[in-house]
Amino acid sequence: EKGGFRTYMDKEIHDQPQAVAETLLGRTDAAGRLQLDELRIEESVLRAVDKIVVVACGTAAYAGHVAKYAIEHWCRIPVEVELAHEFRYRDPVVNEKTLVVAITQSGETMDTLMAVRHAQEQGAKVLSIVNTHGSTIPRESDAVLYTHAGPEIAVASTKAFLAQITATYLLGLYLAQVRGNKFPDEIAEELADLRAMPNKIQTVLDRGDHVRVIARWMNSDSVLFLGRHVGYPVALEGALKLKELAYIHAEGFAAGELKHGPIALVEPGQPVFVIVPSPRGRDSLHSKVISNIQEIRARGARTLVIAEDGDEDVKPYADEVFWVPEAPTLLSPLLSVVPLQIFACELATARGLDVDQPRNLAKSVTVE
Ligand code: F6R
Repeated sequence: EKGGFRTYMDKEIHDQPQAVAETLLGRTDAAGRLQLDELRIEESVLRAVDKIVVVACGTAAYAGHVAKYAIEHWCRIPVEVELAHEFRYRDPVVNEKTLVVAITQSGETMDTLMAVRHAQEQGAKVLSIVNTHGSTIPRESDAVLYTHAGPEIAVASTKAFLAQITATYLLGLYLAQVRGNKFPDEIAEELADLRAMPNKIQTVLDRGDHVRVIARWMNSDSVLFLGRHVGYPVALEGALKLKELAYIHAEGFAAGELKHGPIALVEPGQPVFVIVPSPRGRDSLHSKVISNIQEIRARGARTLVIAEDGDEDVKPYADEVFWVPEAPTLLSPLLSVVPLQIFACELATARGLDVDQPRNLAKSVTVE
């Protein structure tokens, strides 16, 4: 049921606070320690892990990109993110000390399943992050962390993506707990920050009209997306949503790459979304991304900026600002991606396209 929304996708975008909240629910024991759903991996094995390799496709792989930033920061374990279809045909350096994390909404993506088997053959343990109960990948995994996003009907992934990111945060904190990277009270603090996210996502949804108006009037056939740090995978996801739903050319870039090529694409009128890191971050990324906005604005770009509430620095260079509530940097993708989802959904709908069933795409890709 679409619950009063025009499309499943609209509904699923609006289900996101709940998808994140449900994914966080019931993950702690009476003592407040994190627990995974189905763990068939000994804690001693998890303590010995010296590398994590995330395997996934499409949007799920972007969730893996976000996970890399969080897990490396929290657990000091190197994390690689690899597209499952590349991983399975390489000769990857994987062994008993590698934890392979498969991320998949459907649990049936053929390439991801084959990557899981490829890893297990080499002795790696596989933990999967899956939305669909009873599917194949969790059955073949050594551990499962379910995302509780509920069934996702629209072909393009939205709420499953936010739930996947949330699950990777839980995994990161769980590993930090097991391996002693963090004190219990530090983990409790991170969990409290996470539990505050559903309300903040709701705030972004409540402000959705601004981005919908911009989407309806967008007549460009190319849109660029720039992001840095965790904003980079958000930029990639924003571009993917637009390609899938609106069939227009869209590309996401790491903002630091701008000078190394992509800035050549910027001509007068070119719409560019920029995901701006929090000004409260410890490093200088905020000012670097502001400089990027200045550079593209000087070349005539139409700058569509996603920024944190109260960030005055963006205003002089932004044609539009889509404000999101304050959040810890590592958790911010749960907020910054939402305006991009709304943008793609609204633009495609305004062009009369079927956002729930985009052409040429299937909900789960069970063939190569
Ligand atoms: C994008 C999208 C796809 C899937 C990809 C993986 O909107 O839906 O890119 O994310 O096909 O699917 P799962 O997560 O089922 O393995």
